Amino acid sequence: MSKLVAVLPGDGIGPEIMAEAVKVLQALDLGLVLESAPVGGAAYEAQGHPLPEATLALAQRADAVLFGAVGDWKYDKLERALRPEQAILGLRKHLGLFANFRPALCYPQLTHASSLKPELVAGLDILILRELTGDIYFGTPRGRRTASDGHFPGTEEAFDTMRYSRPEIERIAHLAFQAARKRQSRVTSVDKANVLETSQLWRDVLNQVHGQYPDVQLDHMYVDNAAMQLVKAPKAFDVIVTGNLFGDILSDEAAMLTGSIGMLPSASLDRHNKGLYEPSHGSAPDIAGQGVANPLATILSAAMMLRYSLGLPNAADRVEAAVQAVLSQGLRTGDIWSAGCERVGTADMGDAVVRAL
Ligand code: NAI
Ligand code: MG
Repeated sequence: MSKLVAVLPGDGIGPEIMAEAVKVLQALDLGLVLESAPVGGAAYEAQGHPLPEATLALAQRADAVLFGAVGDWKYDKLERALRPEQAILGLRKHLGLFANFRPALCYPQLTHASSLKPELVAGLDILILRELTGDIYFGTPRGRRTASDGHFPGTEEAFDTMRYSRPEIERIAHLAFQAARKRQSRVTSVDKANVLETSQLWRDVLNQVHGQYPDVQLDHMYVDNAAMQLVKAPKAFDVIVTGNLFGDILSDEAAMLTGSIGMLPSASLDRHNKGLYEPSHGSAPDIAGQGVANPLATILSAAMMLRYSLGLPNAADRVEAAVQAVLSQGLRTGDIWSAGCERVGTADMGDAVVRAL
């Protein structure tokens, strides 16, 4: 049976970059069924809700979701439940997406775009795996109150709860070891086990699950050291697996090593490898509607979708090779442009990838 892809373009540059990813998927001629639906601010405008029931139903029915970006300052005054970002939180929750994969890959053609010395990032290829459902973002109790003890009793204080359950850690650990097997078979688990109970459980579970993957090397690293090593010797890493909070910060740090957010795809997976694929960047309202956004992060997200959710690794390889070819031809959108290269718009970049296929 042909596979169904839910195409959710969203707001800002979302529709522009998605059009190019769709072009690439159609050019591959894989017999995929692509069905679009509004999401985010676009859905709020059309139907009064950022994640309409029909859009959610399509995402649930589909074999994979390809997502553009949502958000715009003009929705800031809306009540929380109607804001565009609620669409992405709703999709994560309803689809049970618990693992966020963010590769940080430095293309040889773009090493100069990094803030680090070219020799530190040339050939960089690391994968950050961030747990998405637990940790201090969702732990209860949380709130504000008047302190009854501590250094300043009787004054206002706020508190959050860092929380992880064994099964939550187990399932992300399995994904980390499985992903490492397809790469250099090395996992670095990042925590703060010298201080935090949650990190001690995290470390215990990682060590136990590791027993099932003796062919993969496992190291543990404290998060403060990991932040240093990422800018000192980023190529020493293969797969980094970590919790929600540390992963949020380290994945943005790693993104910057590669120079441009316009190049970075991401995947969020559930337990059946069904997933939501989206560029790591947002809706870029400052350049929306101008035809200048870089569509490569979205096109590379589509490649990840082919590999991880649709069982089409060869098609994924072809897309990634086509992106490399276009960069080698010297074509650049504004965010990755440098002297001597040819500046192209969003649609020209998509067309060039299709030609390179
Ligand atoms: P952003 O990623 O949208 O933009 C940051 C900067 O990078 C801007 O200067 C933008 O022009 C540039 N940029 C981003 N993507 C680009 C591309 N493909 N090509 C060329 N340049 C690109 O982040 P920002 O400005 O913090 O947020 C803008 C809106 O996006 C907000 O409403 C925010 O909530 C939303 N957002 C949505 C996300 C999502 O849909 N998953 C993720 C992050 C932000
Ligand atoms: Mg972040």
